[in-house]
Amino acid sequence: MTRRIIVTEVGPRDGFQIEREFIPTATKIELINQLVEAGVPIIEFSSFVSPRAVPQLADAAEVLAGLDRSTGTKCAALVPNAKGAERAAAAGVDEIRVFLSASETHNQKNVNRGIEASLEGFEEVMRIANDAGIPVEGAIATAFGCPFEGDVPVEQVGHIARRFRDLGMKGLSLGDTTGMATPPLVVERCRHLREHVPELPIALHFHNTRGIGLVNVMAGLAEGVDIYEASFAGLGGCPFAAGATGNICTEDLVYMLHEMGFETGIDLDKLCAAARRVEEVIGRTLPGQVMKAGPRLRLHSPDEVATAAG
Ligand code: COA
Ligand code: ZN
Repeated sequence: MTRRIIVTEVGPRDGFQIEREFIPTATKIELINQLVEAGVPIIEFSSFVSPRAVPQLADAAEVLAGLDRSTGTKCAALVPNAKGAERAAAAGVDEIRVFLSASETHNQKNVNRGIEASLEGFEEVMRIANDAGIPVEGAIATAFGCPFEGDVPVEQVGHIARRFRDLGMKGLSLGDTTGMATPPLVVERCRHLREHVPELPIALHFHNTRGIGLVNVMAGLAEGVDIYEASFAGLGGCPFAAGATGNICTEDLVYMLHEMGFETGIDLDKLCAAARRVEEVIGRTLPGQVMKAGPRLRLHSPDEVATAAG
C-alpha cells in the first residue's frame, strides 16, 4: 500500500508574515485558492495575532471569507491567545494552531510572555475552540534550537508536548524556526515524543536556513513521521527570530516525495504554477528549485544549447 504523506502549506502564514510590502487581500486570496486547486490538504492561511505585531496578516478574516471551501482543503490559522481564538472561531476556521516557543527568550520576543504564561493562556483557547467545535493543534517553535539561547533540551520539548496532550490538543508540530535541526536531533526528538507522548501525531516544520531541510525530512520519514509543513516557492521566516529564512519549499518536497513513491494528493504542476505566481507577486527570486527546473523528465531539445567544439 502506498504511504500517504500529509503536506501542510504554511507559506501564506509563515511566508507572508515577513514580507514588508502589504500583499493585497485579493492577491492573497487568489494565491491561496491556487493552492486549494492544486489539492493541498491543509493550508495555514494566516494568523489571528495582534495586527500591531504582524500587520501583514491583519486581514486574516477577510482572506478566509474569500477562500474556496468546497474542496475538503482544511483552512488552519495560528492563534497565540484567547482573543485570537475568538477571532478565529468567529471567522470560521477549520483548525486552530496555538503556538509557543521551547525557549524562554524566543517566547518573550515572539508573544511577550513566558512559556508557562502561554500554556496557561491556552486553557481559555481550548474552551473557546471546544465550544465552537474547532480542533486545536499545538506548534512548538525553536524546537531544535534557539537563535538566542542555543541548544534546547529534548526534555523541554517533551514537557510542552505533555501539556498539549493534557489540554486536549489533537496533534503537535515541531518548528525549526531558524534552521537549527539536524538528522540526529530529528531522530532524538521524534523518539522521545513517541515514547512519552504517543497519543499526539507529530508534524515537522523545517526551515532551509542551512540547506539541510529536505535531509531532515528524510530523517523524519525514516522515523515514521507522516506530516510535513512547507512553503510554496520556499517563502518564509519569523520576524522575531534573528537569522530566520525560508521554509523548505513545498514543490521541492512534493517532487521528492512523489519520486520516492509516496502519495500526497497534490498536483505538482499546479503547485509549481502557484509558486511561480507568488514569485511574481513578491517581485524577487525565491528559493524554490523544481518550479524553475521542472520535474526530472521534463526533456529539452538538443537545439536549445550550443555544441562544444574544438
Ligand atoms: N488579535 C488581535 N489583537 C490582539 C490579539 C489578537 N490575537 N491579542 C492581543 N491583541 C491586542 C489587544 O487587544 C491589545 O490591543 P489594544 O492595545 O488596542 O487594547 C494589544 O493587542 C495588546 O494586547 P496584549 O494582550 O497586552 O498583548 P501583547 O502586547 O503582550 O502581545 C501578542 C502579545 C501575542 C498579542 C503579540 O505579541 C502577537 O500577536 N505576537 C504574534 C507573533 C507572531 O505572529 N509571530 C510569528 C509566528 S511564529
Ligand atoms: Zn516557520
